[in-house]
Amino acid sequence: MANDARKNAYCPYSKFPVGAALLCSDGAVFTGVNVENAVNGLSICAERTAIFKAISEGHHDFVKLAVSCASDACRPCGACRQVIFEHAPEIEILMGNPDGSFVRTTIRDLLPEAFERPG
Ligand code: THU
Repeated sequence: MANDARKNAYCPYSKFPVGAALLCSDGAVFTGVNVENAVNGLSICAERTAIFKAISEGHHDFVKLAVSCASDACRPCGACRQVIFEHAPEIEILMGNPDGSFVRTTIRDLLPEAFERPG
């Protein structure tokens, strides 16, 4: 689903489409794409699109997140790692490789010593 979502990416500046698919504990899946903007800094990555879509639809329990780029190794950026950790500190992450395979890891491995919500 992450691969398929890529076709909806809005990336006229980078020309680098990214797709994500977020699996919730109840089986629901939310996809996301990167949505860029002419104003620097207003763009959003595919991973955050998927997470924000899910939260805004009332889903809060996330199991797995896959991310896919067309021709490059796809690795979540630092900002996305922090957002993923906030909402799903135990989530599994599947990161796409150029050959179509996925590397399996966890957000805890991608963001060691993460800043956590105080209190
Ligand atoms: N991007 C993502 O959406 N997710 C990633 O994991 C890596 C990067 C986006 C940000 C930007 O729209 C483009 O890919 C790279 O410039």
